[in-house]
Amino acid sequence: MKEKYDLAVIGAGPGGYVAAIRAAQLGMKVVCIDKRLTLGGTCLNVGCIPSKALLQSTELYAHVLHEGQNLGLLSESTSFDFAQMMSRKEQVVESLVQGIAGLFNKHHIVFLQGDAQFIDSHQLLVKNQDQQEIVEAKYILIATGSEPIALPTIPFQHDKIVSSTETLSLKKVPQKMIVIGGGVIGVELASVYNRLGCHVTIIEMLPTICPSMDKAISKQLLQTLKKQGINFLLSTQVTNSKIHTDNVALDLKNEEGAQVIEAEIVLVAVGRKPYTDNLSLEKASIDVSKRGFILVDEFFRTNQPHIFAIGDVIEGVMLAHRASQEGTAVVEWINGQKSSIDYMSIPNVIYTYPEVASVGMTEQESSAAGFTILSGTSYFKGNPRARCAGETEGFVKIIADKKTTRVLGMHIIGPHASEIITTGVLMIQKKMRLQEVAETIFAHPTLSEAIKEAALAALGQPLHG
Ligand code: NAI
Repeated sequence: MKEKYDLAVIGAGPGGYVAAIRAAQLGMKVVCIDKRLTLGGTCLNVGCIPSKALLQSTELYAHVLHEGQNLGLLSESTSFDFAQMMSRKEQVVESLVQGIAGLFNKHHIVFLQGDAQFIDSHQLLVKNQDQQEIVEAKYILIATGSEPIALPTIPFQHDKIVSSTETLSLKKVPQKMIVIGGGVIGVELASVYNRLGCHVTIIEMLPTICPSMDKAISKQLLQTLKKQGINFLLSTQVTNSKIHTDNVALDLKNEEGAQVIEAEIVLVAVGRKPYTDNLSLEKASIDVSKRGFILVDEFFRTNQPHIFAIGDVIEGVMLAHRASQEGTAVVEWINGQKSSIDYMSIPNVIYTYPEVASVGMTEQESSAAGFTILSGTSYFKGNPRARCAGETEGFVKIIADKKTTRVLGMHIIGPHASEIITTGVLMIQKKMRLQEVAETIFAHPTLSEAIKEAALAALGQPLHG
């Protein structure tokens, strides 16, 4: 059987499914193909959403456990039901998957479950266990995402050396867990299990965690997570692994010498790589880089002008919201509209407690780019709303160009940073100057007032400093 479409989207993650919906809204006949049985890709099924659901349950638990008395909350014994946490997480995922399925129905988007592989530059063979189908499309969008990187000396091994996917569905809380990689996935999942009483050690090869963050933020995050009980071995290499019946032993090497540490579970979170397995890109003569990323121009066109690629499968930060925006841009471009993406204003969030969120350039990047900078910091301990909430850890830091006072970056570690960062996104997107931020009226009492105070501090006029 062969069907013809205007657009075939390979991958139903936040890049692919958003592109499919936008294309259907613009009147295109669209098919979306995914190897998973459910829509939503990594983000919804085994990434952002399930991790945030678990982070929510465990954050509340830890908050009541450690802060309850101070807040005047009494309970005979604060405990948790891990199976219920997992089951709630699955319900959250399921409901969101159903939501996308509903939107696909509403917009008459055909969903084909199966592996897509190029036959030539206009045709795809879609195969699953039961059937196969040929899809022909005028335009093809590759949004196949990424997969976890494995370390050669510590290959993934069923239920002991695992990626984030398995860590999101453990059957019980392990007593000991080792996390290799102190990046976003590492600190988020370490937080989940540490809060539930697991003894967690993060091994990071660099001297700092979350190395792409502003240095002041990653330093504060490290201190905070240590205080919460997570152990860190920085500037440390894992040289070998041995799997025993009940645990895994890792050989480590750092300045202090060699040592062996053991745990029931080892999570390897050392980054992700583009996923193009079984696509047969060569049959459509599509170029990829040495690192496996599909090569595209500024309109996300591959070397075949009717084939596009977006999201984690092309170079750039691996973030769901970036992929969605690129998917929309491609489809609107095909439709003859001008759609551009301001990469400087893409926010980055880490859902630890407190949260970390940033947008624009770090202080280090601004200096390296040749800017003389103004920098202002406002601490949440001086913020009335944070005091009322009993969440006073962290700060907002704003960086601006000294010459023009234009905001270059905003970096937050603190309560609800993921929500208040959007003000920084607008500041950068709208090229605002510090004075304009300082003149803006923020509601009182709110956490966002720390943004105004940081802008004032950068101008040398702190009100509460
Ligand atoms: P990452 O790039 O954030 O961090 C990987 C860390 O592993 C780095 O600190 C790196 O120095 C370290 N590392 C690399 N090789 C190592 C080795 N052999 N031994 C010890 N440490 C080593 O990658 P991660 O955490 O795996 O996340 C993958 C992607 O998923 C990221 O691009 C991230 O943006 C995205 N993501 C985003 C989330 C969010 O927006 N909240 C949540 C989870 C993932």
